[in-house]
Amino acid sequence: MALQNINPTKTDAWKELTDHFNEINEHTLKDFFKDQNRVSDFSITANSLELDYSKNRINQKTMDLLVKLANQVELKDAINKYFSGDVINDTEERAVLHTALRSTNEDEVLVDGKDVKPKIQTALRKVRAFSNKVISGKWKGYTGKSITDIVNIGIGGSDLGPDMVVEALQFYKNKLNSHFVSNIDGDHVSEILKNIDPETTLFVIVSKTFTTQETITNAEYIKNWFLKSASVFDVAKHFVAVSTNLEAVTSFGIEKSNIFPMWNWVGGRFSLWSSVGLSISLSLGFENFRELLDGAEEMDNHFKETSFEKNIPVVLALLSVWYNNFFNAETEAVLPYCQYLSKFPSYLQQAIMESNGKSVDRNGEKVTYQTGTIIWGSVGANMQHAFMQLVHQGTKMIPADFIGYKKSLYGLTDSHKKLMANYYAQIDALAFGKTKEEVHLELKTSGDLDKINKLLPYKVFEGNKPSNSLLFETLTPKSLGNLISLYEHKIFVQGVLWNIYSYDQFGVELGKELAKKILKN
Ligand code: F6P
Repeated sequence: MALQNINPTKTDAWKELTDHFNEINEHTLKDFFKDQNRVSDFSITANSLELDYSKNRINQKTMDLLVKLANQVELKDAINKYFSGDVINDTEERAVLHTALRSTNEDEVLVDGKDVKPKIQTALRKVRAFSNKVISGKWKGYTGKSITDIVNIGIGGSDLGPDMVVEALQFYKNKLNSHFVSNIDGDHVSEILKNIDPETTLFVIVSKTFTTQETITNAEYIKNWFLKSASVFDVAKHFVAVSTNLEAVTSFGIEKSNIFPMWNWVGGRFSLWSSVGLSISLSLGFENFRELLDGAEEMDNHFKETSFEKNIPVVLALLSVWYNNFFNAETEAVLPYCQYLSKFPSYLQQAIMESNGKSVDRNGEKVTYQTGTIIWGSVGANMQHAFMQLVHQGTKMIPADFIGYKKSLYGLTDSHKKLMANYYAQIDALAFGKTKEEVHLELKTSGDLDKINKLLPYKVFEGNKPSNSLLFETLTPKSLGNLISLYEHKIFVQGVLWNIYSYDQFGVELGKELAKKILKN
């Protein structure tokens, strides 16, 4: 069954939230923090994750009304449909089952009356067996040498997820060198080919459709480069593919046994849990890949089973709608205090903006309210020395998610302490700012009396800027699985709240068609 069709702005909760916004707008985070219990009242712990959302411009009434909104758009019903394989990607007539990819429970998930779980298990076994062979050196290249380098050729969901995860979990990496070719930029491809040896490189072509211009152009070019030193009979030892389009893969010259399956009930941007994650499994070993899946499943269970008030993806989605639709915030920042997560913001940009960048509702009508948020971000502390000036003192409200880890992986405590001191400092500076009085006193104490009048207004921090703190114990495949899955569900909830279809991406088509036309001329 399809998702229900409920215009959120017509609900009582929306109307009440509109009135409530005027009340809340009068109050500052400083006022709210007079309540000693605020942090514990607005914190949730799930698995190894602690969410502190106390530094948001909310009170208990706000959260009650937001939860009421979730109930009035029938979020529970939508969640049930999402997990059980209903055709919630209505415009493409498909189920949306990335959650089934990591599920270890016994429940059947039916698509067209058939359980998809056995297919998923078979594909995972194939990924495991293949990864083990390559990692152990048993898989030989055309001159009998073992593989040393893997090149993932794909774009969008066939690149961003695996690339982000391999970068994020490099601490757990084996000896294979991993490379990612995505852009249709010959210079980028050439730079990668410069550093690899055709005798010891495995190319993983990932394309759900196997028609994507960038990927196919790069794959063809790389195959021709390979054939300069090897023969067509050697292709099978060096090229594998992940795709739904078996015919196109075979006519590219890849052996049937070297094709890893994908299914149309998994969207590209949610596919890293499938064979699309082959490069992850090759780079980190299958056990770590499985841990990543387990982490995602932990968050799936939390999302499925927890009441909305204590449900991390639901709370984050509701807060995001609160700022997007009531405060008219234009963007949201994602700020991991962890260099390993440097690719996480770009990964989320596709997941979030390709999903919820829609302006037509489930009635086929143009929406009269804001939908998809603009996501951007970068790692702390680097970004403090780049764009944070605007977040602190600019004219825009930018709600931010701070992501941090209690322990570092190599145990460099001094650096980690300083990193996390900055994490907490930024959150506090945004929330509480610095008043005129404080600036005045500071300038006075430092003997800058004559400059007070001139400098005072520039040194004031208004504060009252919202953020969430997402704190994990440490960065592991499991905790990363938790984090990615959390945002996947946040995306889903927002799509339900906005009454849009989150799982198609027709908006990317026109540009592709025009590029083809331009090429023909
Ligand atoms: O152009 C957007 C898109 O369709 C994404 O949704 C997808 O992840 C990417 O292109 C790659 O598609 P494919 O895996 O079919 O090559």
